[in-house]
Amino acid sequence: MRKPFIAGNWKMNLDRAGAVALAKELAAAVPADGPVQVAICPPAVYLDAVREAIAGSAVELGAQNMYHEASGAFTGETSAAMLQDVGCQWVILGHSERRHVLGETDADINRKVHAALAAGLPPIVCVGETLDEREAGRTQEVVRSQCDGSLAGLTEEQMAKVVIAYEPVWAIGTGKVATPAQAEEVHNDLRKYFENRYNHALAEGVRIQYGGSVKPDNAKELLSQPNIDGALVGGAALKADSFLGIIAGA
Ligand code: 13P
Repeated sequence: MRKPFIAGNWKMNLDRAGAVALAKELAAAVPADGPVQVAICPPAVYLDAVREAIAGSAVELGAQNMYHEASGAFTGETSAAMLQDVGCQWVILGHSERRHVLGETDADINRKVHAALAAGLPPIVCVGETLDEREAGRTQEVVRSQCDGSLAGLTEEQMAKVVIAYEPVWAIGTGKVATPAQAEEVHNDLRKYFENRYNHALAEGVRIQYGGSVKPDNAKELLSQPNIDGALVGGAALKADSFLGIIAGA
């Protein structure tokens, strides 16, 4: 059984007081040992404050990005060990905004995935096609190629620690959610990909989140699809009631 996993990607939003207040509200509301695993991924500068706000609760902490080197002259960057030092249990890698706005390639993401796993920090690795790619009928090819590139060289043991987030770029922040059938088709294909590349047991165990305009009113139907194991939530994760509504939907 794959435990549903709902993660909130706060992106570059909120201020320190707002981040701490939201974290405290979630920490108070998410039950320990509940049926849904919950993580929040605040901006890097607020990780430490949010860690304190959720201490002792069931809410887990994740970062939105990291660099693949362990330390050294890499101005502005943050290592996996630094994220762990401030309490991170997860790191989002290869988000579409990092791919399309910040120019990250599959090779960059692959280096980060290896560094995160080597440090013992499990990554949530994002894949997803643009609208042009979908309209050209290239969704499967694009998503599989992103997996080939960003997950290159992972052993079965390493892959078992990775969470995948399928986030169609056209659905992110647009209010245009993929239909449950559209999302399920890609999730099902991803599971086949992992079965071919590794084996049945690995493929059955890998958790694949959906991301892109997930809201309380569409979460339940999306999450009831057999191959959708959770959600990576942007806008709706910035308010406690809507994020908790999505968790309830799971
Ligand atoms: P929205 O939920 O705002 O569409 O963002 C999705 C996302 O990019 C999560 O990583």
